[in-house]
Amino acid sequence: LSSIRVDVGGVEPGTQLTVQWLGKPVFIRRRTQEEIDDANSVDLSDLPDPLARNANIEDGAPATDANRALSVPGEEGNEEWLVQMGVCTHLGCVPLGNAGDFNGWFCPCHGSHYDTAGRIRRGPAPENLPVPVAEFADASTIVLG
Ligand code: FES
Repeated sequence: LSSIRVDVGGVEPGTQLTVQWLGKPVFIRRRTQEEIDDANSVDLSDLPDPLARNANIEDGAPATDANRALSVPGEEGNEEWLVQMGVCTHLGCVPLGNAGDFNGWFCPCHGSHYDTAGRIRRGPAPENLPVPVAEFADASTIVLG
């Protein structure tokens, strides 16, 4: 598995970077406090897919916002960063950011709405956007894979 390093030093809150990794887009989003609060306000029983789908934590972990976010070393509890595959779990289109009924991502192919934690909320997609193996090498560098 090939890994890549991504400089995220220039990513402002409320924006995202899309990089290609293993031939697929990866969304690296620096979320605003409002986006994080939105994600945390959701009752987990309302989620179509209750699993975190995060390759960095144990299988079967619940889809809390904290279980989806990537923490900066030394800043545990900071849920600002969300790293996820930019591939709709329905049939593989690339969802659009800052879009949809839940202000997260919207897949225009068949109308799947993801929330600010990348969790599917409405539409045909069956699963949350997967979180790939990732970690911070330092405060401004994320290593994928
Ligand atoms: Fe995204 Fe069908 S591929 S909704």
